[in-house]
Amino acid sequence: MNKIITLNEFIIQRQADFPYAKGELSRLLTHIGLAAKVVNREVNQAGLVDILGSLEKTNIQGEEVKKLDVFANERFINAMFGSSEIAGMATEERADIIFDDTEMAKNAKYVLCLDPLDGSSNIDVNVSIGTIFSIYRRITPRGHKPELEDFLQEGTKQVAAGYIIYGSSTMLVYTTGRGVNGFTLDPSIGEFCLSHQDIKTPLIGKIYSVNESYYHSFSKGVRKFIDYCKEPDKESGRPYTARYIGSLVADFHRNLLKGGIYMYPATKKHPNGKLRLLYEANPMAFIVEQAGGMAVDQKGQRILDIKPTELHQRVPLFIGSRNMVEQVMQFIEQEDGILPENGND
Ligand code: AHG
Ligand code: MN
Ligand code: MN
Repeated sequence: MNKIITLNEFIIQRQADFPYAKGELSRLLTHIGLAAKVVNREVNQAGLVDILGSLEKTNIQGEEVKKLDVFANERFINAMFGSSEIAGMATEERADIIFDDTEMAKNAKYVLCLDPLDGSSNIDVNVSIGTIFSIYRRITPRGHKPELEDFLQEGTKQVAAGYIIYGSSTMLVYTTGRGVNGFTLDPSIGEFCLSHQDIKTPLIGKIYSVNESYYHSFSKGVRKFIDYCKEPDKESGRPYTARYIGSLVADFHRNLLKGGIYMYPATKKHPNGKLRLLYEANPMAFIVEQAGGMAVDQKGQRILDIKPTELHQRVPLFIGSRNMVEQVMQFIEQEDGILPENGND
């Protein structure tokens, strides 16, 4: 029988990869695993208890916030500050950065960006949702409260990133820049167990994931790529398969394992798309690159190289298997010119 390796054991084993580390990152990741289990419990009970439905509130981006989003947000905030390794957090649900006025927090080395519940429109209908996290080393000196600049770092500066998918089973997938590993929650023992070691995404993908209802407001290049995906061609295995759940975590996770592209392009109304650079694009880009894939914006710029200017900045996202990301960029270059600023008009 194969030996079961729990997330906590794995984190401790891997600490040896970072000879100068003092275990802070390990403790932080352990606390993320703990918060994930608590949120998972609530997600699984969402149909049973009166936690569903909307609070009459919108988040700072004008989107409806569900009760479970609030719960997940609070759970992660408490768990992270409780870990004593976090100086501050930025979450999709709050306009400004959050920090604790304690010496412990001020002395902490890391800051965290969080999408506490991704795919929240799917909560009510029992479809997979997730949590996305991204960790940076602060750049301001320890001993003080964190500043905005600690959060506005390029994605290349991430020290760890990952997601939890609350799906047919619950998984935690993360990277610290040395490959990507996935852990499946075994509810009978309440532990995340290593189930997907050193994940590599297929270089050639055959799935495309995009909200095609916006087809007419995408740029010509994006539209042509979508047409190309559907056009039969035996040699290259087209038509490709269309899959779109509407939860980035779930769409990304499937494509990571099976090979494909996820796109949230610019539209006329939303020239920067919908997804957020800090909470969604950067962590997923770090993971996909570690798995051998690619992530770029609509100008073909590597997501991880973008210097953020705002906490809640949005960015068009093209992420997944190399062949498909390269193909869509070729269409964009040909049809829209090298620097297509906007969607179709
Ligand atoms: P969130 O629930 O955190 O706001 O994120 C929703 C995002 C993403 O998960 C998903 O892929 C996308 O929104 C779906 O948007 P459309 O409904 O416009 O397709
Ligand atoms: Mn999201
Ligand atoms: Mn969210």
